[in-house]
Amino acid sequence: MKIVILNGSPKGEPSVTMQYVKFIQKHYPDHEYLFHNISSRIKKIEKDDDLFDAIMADIESCDSIIWSTPVYTLFVPAQYMRFLELVHERNVAQAFKNKSTIVMTTSIHFYDHTAHRYMHAVCDDLEMNYIGYFSAEMDDLRKSRGRETLLKFAKNYFEASEQKFHHQKRYQPIAPGNDTFEPAVVSKKLDAHHKKIVLVTDHKPQDTGIQAMIRRFSDTYAETIDIINLWDINIQGGCTGCIKCGYDNNCMYKDDFSAFYRSRILPADIVIFAMALTGRNISSKFKEYFDRRFFMNHVPELKDKQVGYLISGRMSRMPYLYDFCQGSVEWQQANLAGIVCDESGDSDEIDASIQKLAEQVITFSENAYCQPQTFLGVGGSKIFRDDIWGKLRLVFQADYRYYKKTGSFNFPHKRYKSRLTIFVVMLLTKIPGFRKEFYSRIKTEMYKPHKNIVENCDVKSI
Ligand SMILES: Cc1cc2nc3c(=O)[nH]c(=O)nc-3n(C[C@H](O)[C@H](O)[C@H](O)COP(=O)(O)O)c2cc1C
Repeated sequence: MKIVILNGSPKGEPSVTMQYVKFIQKHYPDHEYLFHNISSRIKKIEKDDDLFDAIMADIESCDSIIWSTPVYTLFVPAQYMRFLELVHERNVAQAFKNKSTIVMTTSIHFYDHTAHRYMHAVCDDLEMNYIGYFSAEMDDLRKSRGRETLLKFAKNYFEASEQKFHHQKRYQPIAPGNDTFEPAVVSKKLDAHHKKIVLVTDHKPQDTGIQAMIRRFSDTYAETIDIINLWDINIQGGCTGCIKCGYDNNCMYKDDFSAFYRSRILPADIVIFAMALTGRNISSKFKEYFDRRFFMNHVPELKDKQVGYLISGRMSRMPYLYDFCQGSVEWQQANLAGIVCDESGDSDEIDASIQKLAEQVITFSENAYCQPQTFLGVGGSKIFRDDIWGKLRLVFQADYRYYKKTGSFNFPHKRYKSRLTIFVVMLLTKIPGFRKEFYSRIKTEMYKPHKNIVENCDVKSI
């Protein structure tokens, strides 16, 4: 088989993920492997037609494609997403049709599932024969079990490719969006109570849907809100993964992104992301924003802020995007005040929803309301806590200092009293009589402390 590998790592050659592909190559040397560094050369690929055409010619003539990429900010790097945009903008999607394909990533398993679902949808759109995904923890290759699993995956990939078994599609194509929202005139303006509201957007002149939503949102308030279009900021490129920011949160880029982030996003009480969906996801421009935000590493710098989304496009066809929107807010310990999408095309409904969001961000902010994290926030925070305490500590020293200072290393084994009680009671449960009594009372014992609070609480205070 002739296999094209599209390397999504912004690091280019020294990519961890690529070592997984090269490991497969070493064990299956009879195939032809053609490597293309996509993310690290995206600017050149975009400008140089010959280079773009050469990549597309290899894709056209190959039997199979391996998407090899790190997980970046819950999806894949912005540069990789830009490449996918180019494929559609330049009408060359046909080159991918019917090729067998796999998606391989490395990560720390923080929202690798959203990245894979997105890439699966991309493959379905390109009418490829999607065989499966391999989501490795970045260090799996260093373990014999990891290598073994990788080779089993590779075996299945080659067999399935050769059998030409056609896998079912999972994602329905995206029908054209509904750009018909007509905002109502706002008669009574809302007092923002001096809350600092910042709205970040990526719209281009043709994105009229999101512009109408932004107008409606900002018109709600008596005060002027801070609206930032990412195209107006000097951002030289996507995150390169150099991790120099790990020591002290200073980005190696000398452009305006970090200063903008520190001066306009960090002081805000309320952050609204107003996005024009592009292809199968948020635009690569918005993704560049989220990737470049990585100079803050794993510090939840949006903590206690209200966050809302205005989204123009077919969000319901992008189920992974809900996890992205909610998960990015929850792990940050911010509050997801709401998501409004214009997909229905029903102007009254969209209008009322934007009004509600505009009101809600103010009341929630005034009341310092932050709803409890779901699995998306709890699970994500625990991955960061463990890795920053453990193997990532050396690289992410700024994170380590922050987590230590804020008591974020809240491991359960530090709860000595509870550990001692559990130890003693576990010993006692070895006695059959005690065990019987213990399990017969567990239901009532579990709810008793909660019941006590409900019965004895003072309605005027907490
Ligand atoms: C900007 C940036 C964002 C990242 N986002 C995630 C993420 O959302 N989830 C995750 O598990 N790992 C994330 N990582 C870690 C990388 O996925 C991981 O280090 C990967 O192994 C790098 O692969 P590469 O060497 O091929 O680029 C991120 C790393 C960087 C630099």
